[in-house]
Amino acid sequence: MRAVVTDGKDELQFSDQHVPEPKPGEVRISVAAAGVNPVDVATRNGLLHAGVVPAGTAVGLGWDVSGIIDAVGTDVSSPTVGTRVVGLRADPTTSLGTYAEFVVLPVDAVAPVPDGIATIDAASIPLNILTADQALDLAGPVGTLLVTGAAGGVGGFAVALAADRGWTVTALARESDREFVLRAGATSVVSSIADAHPVDAVLDTAALGSAALAAVHDNGNYVGVLPPAVPDGERGIATTAVSVRHDGTRLTQLLELVVSGAIEVRVAGTLALEHARTAQDEASAQGVRGRWLLTP
Ligand SMILES: NC(=O)c1ccc[n+]([C@@H]2O[C@H](COP(=O)([O-])OP(=O)(O)OC[C@H]3O[C@@H](n4cnc5c(N)ncnc54)[C@H](OP(=O)(O)O)[C@@H]3O)[C@@H](O)[C@H]2O)c1
Repeated sequence: MRAVVTDGKDELQFSDQHVPEPKPGEVRISVAAAGVNPVDVATRNGLLHAGVVPAGTAVGLGWDVSGIIDAVGTDVSSPTVGTRVVGLRADPTTSLGTYAEFVVLPVDAVAPVPDGIATIDAASIPLNILTADQALDLAGPVGTLLVTGAAGGVGGFAVALAADRGWTVTALARESDREFVLRAGATSVVSSIADAHPVDAVLDTAALGSAALAAVHDNGNYVGVLPPAVPDGERGIATTAVSVRHDGTRLTQLLELVVSGAIEVRVAGTLALEHARTAQDEASAQGVRGRWLLTP
């Protein structure tokens, strides 16, 4: 089968790999679509090869996947073969990612795709919604929240999930995204940190770093998305960053929120797997809203 790998030198390569066999505790997915995310582009540009994996290692691309279960490990009784699922591959160091025809994941990394969500579109959801949800878990007691990058992949979900949890949300977003972020659940929109009223917590998906601390009350909370680049706290502000983990159980609950209409699914476009590089280039352009998807 075909799969896309990289050695971190700005190139994508197609590798011919054996169809993987699921071990106990795993399921195999016949891939319908893989989401294209900023981390994939960073991986192509050497993110993992700067110390996480040895130089020259071919690592598989892609974290998000949707598709159909086509084989299960010996001890897996659910989901069964034929189930539509969506999942997160959270170990990016292996030679097989979701930019492939088949992928094997731990069974607790997948969730059934509910009626009301198209199988292909589902691939736009897991990485960003789980990141947003797990970041909110780090944001402290519910109160006022500023989400930077509020119209982005993580930020859009974060606004909606925070509003659903009871936060009063200010969105930092481009003027052209005002309607989207208000629809998602923000009660106010600003275009810069300087314009924001002080909040209890900031979820900094735009990676503004220490500049974002200016919007936070003394003793508040800062949650970033880049674990190696957490700004030092000041004025008693606690600073941390999310590192997303797979969580099929929570993903199942979050998909129900999507079906309820509380959260929008946004797909920027779909390209065939052989155009993975083009899809990454499209996804990297400023102003893109929604995820690009690859279909094998
Ligand atoms: N730690 C983890 O577990 C984890 C998991 C997932 C993602 N991430 C990281 O989270 C970050 C965000 O990912 P994403 O998928 O949400 O990216 P994205 O879809 O590109 O969203 C980023 C958003 O921030 C906006 N933005 C950037 N600077 C801005 C500014 N100064 N003012 C207003 N808007 C601004 C962008 O708008 P424009 O397009 O108009 O510039 C875009 O809407 C990435 O660095 C990604 O690698 C981390």
